[in-house]
Amino acid sequence: MMQLLSNKCGVLNQYWIHILTKFIMRVGINLHQKTLQHTKCPFLKTFNINVTSEQALAKYTKFCPYLHFKEMKSEPKKCPIDHSQFYSNQFKGVIQQIKDEGRYREFKSLLRTNGEFPRAINKTPSGDQTITLWCSNDYLGMSQNPMVTQATKNAIDLTGIGAGGTRNIGGTSIYHVELERELADLHRKDSALVMNSGYVANMATLDTLGKVLKDVTFLSDAKNHASLIEGMRATKRDRVIFKHNDYKDLEEKLKQLDIQQNKVIVFESVYSMNGTVAPISQFINLAKKYNALTLIDEVHAVGMYGDRGAGVTEKLGLQKEIDIVTGTLGKAFGCSGGYVSANAEIVDAVRSTASNFIFSTSMSPIIAAACLESVKYLKTHPEIRDRHQYVASLIKAKLKSKGIPALNSASHIVPVFIGDPVLCKEASEKLLNEYNIYIQPINYPTVPRGQEILRISPTPLHTEEMIDELVDSIECVFKSLNLRMESQYTAEQRAIFQ
Ligand SMILES: Cc1ncc(COP(=O)(O)O)c(C=O)c1O
Repeated sequence: MMQLLSNKCGVLNQYWIHILTKFIMRVGINLHQKTLQHTKCPFLKTFNINVTSEQALAKYTKFCPYLHFKEMKSEPKKCPIDHSQFYSNQFKGVIQQIKDEGRYREFKSLLRTNGEFPRAINKTPSGDQTITLWCSNDYLGMSQNPMVTQATKNAIDLTGIGAGGTRNIGGTSIYHVELERELADLHRKDSALVMNSGYVANMATLDTLGKVLKDVTFLSDAKNHASLIEGMRATKRDRVIFKHNDYKDLEEKLKQLDIQQNKVIVFESVYSMNGTVAPISQFINLAKKYNALTLIDEVHAVGMYGDRGAGVTEKLGLQKEIDIVTGTLGKAFGCSGGYVSANAEIVDAVRSTASNFIFSTSMSPIIAAACLESVKYLKTHPEIRDRHQYVASLIKAKLKSKGIPALNSASHIVPVFIGDPVLCKEASEKLLNEYNIYIQPINYPTVPRGQEILRISPTPLHTEEMIDELVDSIECVFKSLNLRMESQYTAEQRAIFQ
């Protein structure tokens, strides 16, 4: 609110105010109410005048040089509702519902001492607890690989910590450029583009496909990751969901679309929760038959499969056949970040159109340097992958021999089926509190309700002794909580996790 004052008593009178107000109204200005006050003149107390803007008010001063404006303090209107209660109750309600369903998430505060992985320190209110990590996605222990940590130290000494901008505005470092070259070579593609996470890489890639490919239809596997689902949804393009890993169902869906129409088959190589592996070659054949692009998320496979760690497509000799690959640098490569790799036009289009790539500060060059070293290292160390697969198969065999319902996964992931959120949490807590074994319970929304699991992720660094300790502890927990053993499921029920 503004106050309009006259310095000279008597200069301003009601007549003048009337004239001035009329003038401002006549020049066709929208209404804003202002308070006009004269403090000295006894005839002139307070008047409300209608003006639009500061410029309009300035016209008053032009008419009368003795006038000036003064800010008036206005009392904020009192809200009849208790604002903080109103909002906080809504959040509390949702949290309570999550708690009631037994799926409230509590984060462990871990100190992953360098050189000790898969051992770590769990910081609890009652003190430090040394635990064995059995649920880390640092699948190959690369986060503590001495070559990788040294490369990180070298880079920080050389360049400092931050990227200093988006990729376009000063945020592209020599490490980003070299990492992208290395990743393109890994996937046998023209180009790669690094992002801040695998999640962003999926969102950005799908964003571009939705923008560039007119009226595109996405054909999406039913068990696709949230980042793929959200990425497709955000494009507002049609999405057809086919049954998980079911190429016959996919073909049925493809048949219904015009051959001329833009289509992208979107799927993962290794599904992280049940450990299944996609029938990649069948999908590729269908893509060729029905004129579709293929986008494969190799997030849970890069670093771990294939001669050089490019993923399942490399293992199967299908790298050239796949159109677009997305991956993460935060799991087997042990750092953080994600990327897309494809032919030059596709990557260039993502670089040029994906909003969440363009408008975000780029990955720290230090992380890029670490990733670069990790990718290079794993290209030439297949023995790490061999040991990883060996540990995974040993655990599966040992669990099966005890009758524990471990899902029959074709990958390194070992899911132990519980099927109840409360029991799953209890089993996890028991393993931690009584056996110093940390396996996070996996519940909704990460898996559908009723399919809760303890997801074991083995690494090459787990010893035979650790494996025996794990299997024995799981067996004890199953017995003490009276959890269902494999033999207690009907054949039909067992089909859920096979
Ligand atoms: C299949 C899949 N894609 C993408 C992502 C996201 O990768 P990031 O953790 O690098 O964001 C995940 C994360 O777990 C995933 O499971």
